[in-house]
Amino acid sequence: MKFFVDTADINEIRSLAETGLLDGVTTNPSLVAKAGRPFREIVREICAIVEGPVSAEVTATDADGMVAEGRSLAEIADNVTVKVPLTMDGLKACRSLTQAGTKVNVTLCFSANQALLAAKAGATFISPFIGRLDDIGLDGVELIQEIRAIYDNFGFDTEVLAASIRTVNHVKLCALAGADVATIPPGIIRQLVSHPLTDKGLEAFLADWQKTGDKIL
Ligand code: E4P
Repeated sequence: MKFFVDTADINEIRSLAETGLLDGVTTNPSLVAKAGRPFREIVREICAIVEGPVSAEVTATDADGMVAEGRSLAEIADNVTVKVPLTMDGLKACRSLTQAGTKVNVTLCFSANQALLAAKAGATFISPFIGRLDDIGLDGVELIQEIRAIYDNFGFDTEVLAASIRTVNHVKLCALAGADVATIPPGIIRQLVSHPLTDKGLEAFLADWQKTGDKIL
């Protein structure tokens, strides 16, 4: 499973890119607003740091407007993926942009039927928002399982990009469900490495090593 980071914070992206664990980045208008800097500037900087796909979302709501914004965003760098919402206009824009060779991430997916439509529209990625489904008492991971089964039934090559990840357990469950990608907030990526038994075990190993008085180098 690929790891994207879900943020527009350049410092976070730079620091996570250094770990070698980062396969891409997703942003959305709310994350860009939080970063408080011009959108195009942020996208350009992220694309220079990360080689993989960087999702930049359109804000027009009509298909022609989305296509125009998408084309313009795609000109920023070769690794820009244009993000469009899962509306009928978004699907029209998706078809048009992918036909022109631009990668498209269809976002705000909350049902398997929506995901089916996105694949038929030629989406590169579909973004089911699992945390927001959990928030309303539904099962976000179940949606990932359903989309995986449908895409496998018909051989769609649209990648399942699990989004709205809230916990480390979400990451594990998405991997088990066969998501191609998870886009994860920076704090949760960092939490993935932690286990109290790792810390305790390392402490004990180092204490015993000290007693030997030996050196490796
Ligand atoms: C995905 O591309 C979105 O940016 C994101 O995962 C939304 O997550 P949220 O529900 O925590 O806002």
